[in-house]
Amino acid sequence: MSDASFIGLGSMGLALASAVLQRGHSITVWNRTSQKAESLVQAGALLAQNVKSAVCASPVVFICVDNYETARSILGSQAARELSGRVLVQLSTGSPQDAREMEVWAHDRGANYLDGAILAYPEQIATPQSTILVSGSESAFHQAERYLKVLAPKLIYLGDQVGAASALDCATLSYLYGALLGTVHGSLICESEGISVNDYRFLLPEYSSIVSGEVAKLSQCIYENRFENPTASLKTYFVAWERIVQQAQAAQISQAFPAFISSLLDQAVSDGYGSEEFAALIKTL
Ligand SMILES: NC(=O)c1ccc[n+]([C@@H]2O[C@H](COP(=O)([O-])OP(=O)(O)OC[C@H]3O[C@@H](n4cnc5c(N)ncnc54)[C@H](OP(=O)(O)O)[C@@H]3O)[C@@H](O)[C@H]2O)c1
Repeated sequence: MSDASFIGLGSMGLALASAVLQRGHSITVWNRTSQKAESLVQAGALLAQNVKSAVCASPVVFICVDNYETARSILGSQAARELSGRVLVQLSTGSPQDAREMEVWAHDRGANYLDGAILAYPEQIATPQSTILVSGSESAFHQAERYLKVLAPKLIYLGDQVGAASALDCATLSYLYGALLGTVHGSLICESEGISVNDYRFLLPEYSSIVSGEVAKLSQCIYENRFENPTASLKTYFVAWERIVQQAQAAQISQAFPAFISSLLDQAVSDGYGSEEFAALIKTL
C-alpha cells in the first residue's frame, strides 16, 4: 500500500507526484505513457502496471489529466469498481458543471469526491506561489489535506458545493483575460501612435496598484449590493471610453475591443445605471 496514488504524469501531474514523494510520502503512479514515470520510480515511487492497480494501491487517488472526460474514460475502463471507499481528488481543469457531473459519477461508484483547481504552473507547485482551490466532500478534504498542503501552501477549501473551486478558477481567469486583452489593445494604441511599447511597459506596474484598489472596491460594491454615490459614475466611464473608440477609428486599428466595451457600457446607461458605480454593470450583464 502507498499513501497516495497519482494518475496522469503530464507536466502538471509529474510536478504534483514529485512534490508529494519528495516530502517523504509513499506514492504509486500510473500514466498512459509509462516512460514519463521513470524519474519518479528512480526516486522511490511505485509504478502501477495498470489503472486498477494504481487505484487499489492507496486510500487517496489524485488524477490530473487533460480533462474530465479523459479522467472518466481512464478510471471507468478498469478501475471504477475499485474506487469504492476511497477518496478521489480531481485536479484536471474543468467547468463547474464538469465538477458536478464528476461528483455524481464518483458517488455512483462509492468514492468520496473532492474537486480542485490549480492556480499555478508546474514549476510553482510546492512553492509559496502555488494556490489550489478545492471543494466537495469535507471528509475527503481532510483525508487529502496533508498532500494538498504540500502541493500548495495557499490551499483553500471552499465547502461542499463541489463546483465552487472551478467557478472561482473561471472567475479569476475572467479577470486575467480582461487585463491581458486590455494590455494587448493598449500596446496596439502605442504602436499605432508611434509610441514605444517600452514606455507603456514601465508605466504599467504603478498603474496596476491603482487598478487593484479599484478592483477591490468594485467587488465590494457588488458583494454589498451598493451602487449609489460613485466617485466616478458609469456614465463618466462610458464617455471616457469613447476616446478609445475614436482613436481606434482614426488610427485604423482593430475596433473589436473598444466596440465591445462601448456596447456594454452603452447598454448599462440605457438600462438606467449611468449615475451609479461602474460595478452596476453587473445588473446589465
Ligand atoms: N501545465 C500547467 O501549467 C497547468 C496549470 C494549471 C492546471 N493545469 C491542468 O492540469 C491538467 C494536466 O495538464 P498538463 O499540463 O499536465 O498537460 P499535459 O502535459 O498535456 O499532460 C496531459 C496528461 O493527460 C494524459 N492523457 C491525455 N489524454 C489521455 C488519454 N486519452 N488517455 C490517457 N491519458 C491521457 C497524458 O498522458 P500521456 O503522457 O500518455 O500523453 C498526460 O498524463 C490539465 O487539465 C491542465 O489544465 C495545468
